[in-house]
Amino acid sequence: MKKTFKKIALFTSGGDAPGMNAHIRAIVRTCIARGIEPIGIFNGYQGMIEGRFVSLNRKATVNLIDEGGTYLKTSRSEEFKTPEGREKAYQNLVKFEIDGVIACGGDGTLRGANLLYKEYGVNIVGTPGTIDNDLYGTYYTIGFDTASNTAAEAIDRIRDTADSHGRIFIIEVMGRHAGHIAMDVGISCGAELILVPEKASDIADLYATINRMGEHTRTIIIVGEGGQYEGAVDLATRLKINFNVDAKTTVLGHIQRGGSPTVRDRVLASHLGMAAVDSLLAGHSNVMVGRVYHNITHTPLPETWEKKKKIQNYLYQLAELL
Ligand code: F6P
Repeated sequence: MKKTFKKIALFTSGGDAPGMNAHIRAIVRTCIARGIEPIGIFNGYQGMIEGRFVSLNRKATVNLIDEGGTYLKTSRSEEFKTPEGREKAYQNLVKFEIDGVIACGGDGTLRGANLLYKEYGVNIVGTPGTIDNDLYGTYYTIGFDTASNTAAEAIDRIRDTADSHGRIFIIEVMGRHAGHIAMDVGISCGAELILVPEKASDIADLYATINRMGEHTRTIIIVGEGGQYEGAVDLATRLKINFNVDAKTTVLGHIQRGGSPTVRDRVLASHLGMAAVDSLLAGHSNVMVGRVYHNITHTPLPETWEKKKKIQNYLYQLAELL
């Protein structure tokens, strides 16, 4: 028997990602269009535990589309990792008479959603909201495009200095254990070397490449976090100790998470927001609502972190060739 939905709760969790607000807006407006009351849970799973549930309306989402961060705030809740914390969270879903839940975030968020489904049978779908683009089951995650563009813009600026001084620059980008940002940004900025966590590289080979590049005016090396080197500074130190190479380092850090989302992220976030509501109404649960080409996909939540989203081979070829 098909369930009737009166209230759908939504929240963002884990690292904020540009486009989350466009996503919230789309979920709220789709709920209203379908005759459902949208309930925002503030501060992610921690807010679910603390009962921070607020009824949302169309007005609350005015001017959200171009804002970075997340209107609903976010957290990395330690308490939710405990059975007691999840029990409290579930009791609040019951108390506020929530019929379905939409959880937007990265793999930690989706793992939490899976637990609510398994332990309490909560009707829940996840949506991919992370700059890392490391979730299987969707070509792109909300925030990845903006973060990549932000990083690319910063690197373009650094390149001016690298070029003017003929320097070597090692620039570290985010991605946790995935090299999607590093690869796309490295290719789009014409980096001489791109190091991703997915592929180990020998330091002597790196030195040989840097030497070969010496004939150019500058060398840009992009290093994704979470790989064999502990970031830009570690790599620079090793190059100095082993080969007396002088390199400047920049860690782009959280600058990549903020700012107004790109058009691509706004459209993706809006599409996934509408689809998340409609997926719940169609009876989907314990899946991530993603997009492949222009089609909405439903991937069982555990597959989104158990299966690895690989960096495409053509990107490795481009990085090597160009
Ligand atoms: O998952 C998004 C992300 O920005 C990663 O790229 C990074 O490793 C991590 O979050 C940083 O987390 P925090 O903001 O909690 O330090």
